[in-house]
Amino acid sequence: MPALIETELSSLTLYARGKVRDLYSVGEALLFVATDRISAFDHVLATGIPGKGKVLTQLSLFWFNFLKDVVPNHLITANVNQFPKELAPYRDELEGRSMLVKRAQMFPVECVVRGYLSGSGWKDYKATGAVCGIKLPAGLRESDRLPEPIFTPASKSLDGEHDINISFDDMVTRVGAHSAERLRDLTLEIYSKASEYAERRGVILADTKFEFGAAAEGIILADEVLTPDSSRFWPRDQYKPGGPQPSFDKQFVRDYLESIRWNKQAPAPALPPDVVARTQEKYFAAFRLLTGASLSL
Ligand SMILES: Nc1ncnc2c1ncn2[C@@H]1O[C@H](COP(=O)(O)OP(=O)(O)OP(=O)(O)O)[C@@H](O)[C@H]1O
Ligand SMILES: [Mg+2]
Repeated sequence: MPALIETELSSLTLYARGKVRDLYSVGEALLFVATDRISAFDHVLATGIPGKGKVLTQLSLFWFNFLKDVVPNHLITANVNQFPKELAPYRDELEGRSMLVKRAQMFPVECVVRGYLSGSGWKDYKATGAVCGIKLPAGLRESDRLPEPIFTPASKSLDGEHDINISFDDMVTRVGAHSAERLRDLTLEIYSKASEYAERRGVILADTKFEFGAAAEGIILADEVLTPDSSRFWPRDQYKPGGPQPSFDKQFVRDYLESIRWNKQAPAPALPPDVVARTQEKYFAAFRLLTGASLSL
């Protein structure tokens, strides 16, 4: 099966094209299509990973269901048989990788939660002893588990640039105190429930990012949820604090890009077939590990 790099549902109105998803307006709703595009170092690569969009969609659906008692979400249906008639011509392309969702007024913050010290959190800690202004004990090592999970919001970049960590006070300025507190509490509650579950299945959920929106019924969980693209998953049996952990999904991609010394400026390079195949296997393995079910292409 070839990778689906871009959709062109020509009778529909394109609402937005993100790095990975194509969104279309369908009446009041949105059609949310996960393509097989893959990004690394903030660039979409020239090669896709066949079936990746299906993994992201099916894993998000798993989590929406898992979390439905904690928070309502944007899903209307992922069953193509229940999609509006105007989507019928695209049925085969959409099946398994798309959802009809409620259009939400998105909060302009990425709700990041960290249970472990890694990535920009680790950099911040090394420089300041704190992450996003949250003071942490001295002497922590890279990838160490934090005494308790912390909420470290980031501003949503509008132009594909890197997101920037912000303090909680800054978030209050952006969305108001009431919403900021509610989003923080929801984020921590979701993380606690999901990370406990993942841990039992052999996966450490080091950190992750949620996006919420406002809809008629109040705050809803939107976007993708707890996928390899929005989260750091670490295999529990290989966990070794004191340095970086291998990334569950994109390690082969990053290693390859470093090996060819790409300058991380556009245009992003293509990937050789073995890097594609090994990365694809990682995405499917993440799905199997977390859900206990297997997914076919
Ligand atoms: N229910 C919703 N209503 C409106 N917009 C949504 C909804 N759910 C998600 N979105 C928005 O849709 C876009 C999803 O596309 P995608 O994740 O590919 O783009 P991106 O965020 O620009 O890229 P990246 O995640 O790689 O930084 C995001 O901008 C997200 O905020
Ligand atoms: Mg996104």
